[in-house]
Amino acid sequence: MKLIHTIEGLRRELEALRAEGKKIGLVPTMGALHEGHASLVRRSVEENGATVVSVFLNPTQFNDKTDLEKYPRTLDADCALLESCGADIAFAPSVEEMYPEPDTRVFSYPPVDTVMEGAWRPGHFNGVCQIVSKLFVAVQPDRAYFGEKDFQQIAVIRAMVKDLKMKVEIVPCPVVREASGLAMSSRNTLLTAEERAVAANIYGVLSKSRNFATNHTLQETHRYVVDALNAIVGLEVQYFAIVDGNTLQELKHWSDSDYVVGCITVFCGSQPIRLIDHIKYKG
Ligand code: PAF
Repeated sequence: MKLIHTIEGLRRELEALRAEGKKIGLVPTMGALHEGHASLVRRSVEENGATVVSVFLNPTQFNDKTDLEKYPRTLDADCALLESCGADIAFAPSVEEMYPEPDTRVFSYPPVDTVMEGAWRPGHFNGVCQIVSKLFVAVQPDRAYFGEKDFQQIAVIRAMVKDLKMKVEIVPCPVVREASGLAMSSRNTLLTAEERAVAANIYGVLSKSRNFATNHTLQETHRYVVDALNAIVGLEVQYFAIVDGNTLQELKHWSDSDYVVGCITVFCGSQPIRLIDHIKYKG
C-alpha cells in the first residue's frame, strides 16, 4: 500500500492504475479507523481493481471546534489496518493541500440537508460536500463507499452527485455494530468502558421499538424511544425523528410512507459524546 500526501502524487498513481484498466473505488474517511471502515474498504477491494482510502480530518464540517480538537488521530494504526484490508492507496493530505484557499462554495440540498443533523449542526453538510466534492474531483472514482450509520450524509451526498452530474456510483454499506449492539464509530474511543455499556442501550431501545411499533402509533413509538433513553442515567436524547427514508421528512402516520426510518442523536457520558444511530421500521 502506498501512503500519499499530495493530490499531484495521487493523480500520478491513479493514472497508472487506470492505464491498466482498473476501476477505482474510494472510501472517504476522517481516520481513527475501526471495523466499520474496514468493512467498507474490504467491499471496495472486492468490487474494484484498486482502492483509495482518504484519511483526512476535515475541519470545514465541524461547527464545534472542541469536537474537532477531541477527534482521535491515529494515522499509523489506520495505515496498518488499511494495509491488512488490501487497500492500494492511503491518501492523507494536509489541510493546506485540500484547502489552499478558504472554501467559499455553498452547497444547499433542501430538504435533505436542512433537517436533523442539518438543523442541529449548521454548516456541517456544507463542509461534507466541500471535502467530498474535492475528493471526487481528485480521485475520479468509479464507486465511492459510505457507511449507513451516517444515514443522512448518504442522502446529502447523493443529492450533490445528482446536482453536479458526477459520474460516481454511491455505494451505501450496512452499519457495523459492536457485540453489544453499539454502532461502531470513531467517537466510541472517547467513551469510558462504563459509558460504552450505557451507550449500547441506544440500539437496544431502538430495536425494542420495532416490536413496540407493530401495535402503537408513530407518536407513541416516538415517545417510547425518547422516554426510555432519557430514563437511563448518562444518556440524553438530542433528537429522534421518524422520517421517510428518501426525503428525510418527518411522518405523522406509519402509512405515510413505505420506507420509514427512525434517526436519533444521543449525548452520552460526562464529556458528553454525541452518538448517532438509526433503525428501519419499514422498507
Ligand atoms: O463520514 C465521514 O467520515 C466524513 O463525513 C467524510 C465522508 C469522510 C467527509 O469528511
